[in-house]
Amino acid sequence: MGFPTERLRRLRSNPTLRRMIAETRLRIDQLIYPLFVCPGKGVRKPISSMPGQHQFSIDTLVEECQALEQAGLPAVLLFGIPETKDATGTSGYARDGIIQRAIEAIKDRCKGLLIITDVCLCEYTDHGHCGIITEDPRKGTVDNDATLPLLAAEAVSHVEAGADLVAPSAMMDGQVQALRKALDERDFTHIPIMAYAAKYASSFYGPFREAAESPPTFGDRRAYQMDPANSDEALREVQLDIEEGADIVMVKPAIHFLDIIYRVKQEFGMPTAAYFVSGEFAQLKAAAQLGWLDEERAALEAHTSLVRAGADLIITYYAKELLGWL
Ligand code: PBG
Repeated sequence: MGFPTERLRRLRSNPTLRRMIAETRLRIDQLIYPLFVCPGKGVRKPISSMPGQHQFSIDTLVEECQALEQAGLPAVLLFGIPETKDATGTSGYARDGIIQRAIEAIKDRCKGLLIITDVCLCEYTDHGHCGIITEDPRKGTVDNDATLPLLAAEAVSHVEAGADLVAPSAMMDGQVQALRKALDERDFTHIPIMAYAAKYASSFYGPFREAAESPPTFGDRRAYQMDPANSDEALREVQLDIEEGADIVMVKPAIHFLDIIYRVKQEFGMPTAAYFVSGEFAQLKAAAQLGWLDEERAALEAHTSLVRAGADLIITYYAKELLGWL
């Protein structure tokens, strides 16, 4: 006598059958690869806490994007490391800023690659916060409302340079609406917004801050990012962003927030993105380098779990390796 569950398990030792009966599958066309662009020429500077990731100058970035596009990658998410920083993040919305020039260069050479940009001030401000600093201590760290026009200007400048989609990540209230309005006024009604809707104040962003050279010089981001203890609050944040015009909603980080991904997808049925962040990447890399994990299996398992939870799009530093593994 055979047991049905046992028969099913045995079926799976045949890889073809295993794929045929798999309930979820991670696909290449779900992947978004984050890339860091810095000043200079011929630069390909390794990021020590993110093995295999680099800061690229525009020329080497274009080469990288060409190779990735050829390998089947659908989309990149760009972060800029500017020449200069100031209190209001001027280089973030300058017409000839690092990101704006990078977008133009990539668009020129990689026609099929979707270009998504991170819209935030923390990479461009000298204090490293995601908005401008408030003079009024009662209002906390950043001046939410005064930051909105700057984020809107940044998004518009990205789209003028050729970005296909903008992703506001500052966690300022009203940022999605501010971007939508500014884009519509300039006849960019066709440009979708991917909102970092449920973005937690997470320790797992540590390596990113080395990569983007953007750690806050004082305080932390808890005044505007979410408390990892909260789940209902995430739904309220996501709902607000949808009401403001978000087309895709994102949960970030990913692995420790699978329940949030699940709830957001169930509740709203919107295209949902999960960001497998720098610290999640660094954890797997470190364990793999020590020989403590089978990296390919662990990475496939982690990313498949995001799809199982409900993620449609996956932003991950593993995208390049996943192209080969899938
Ligand atoms: C910008 C931004 C951050 C990340 C993405 N966009 C840093 C932060 O919010 O502190 C983190 C991504 C990662 O850790 O991979 N605000």
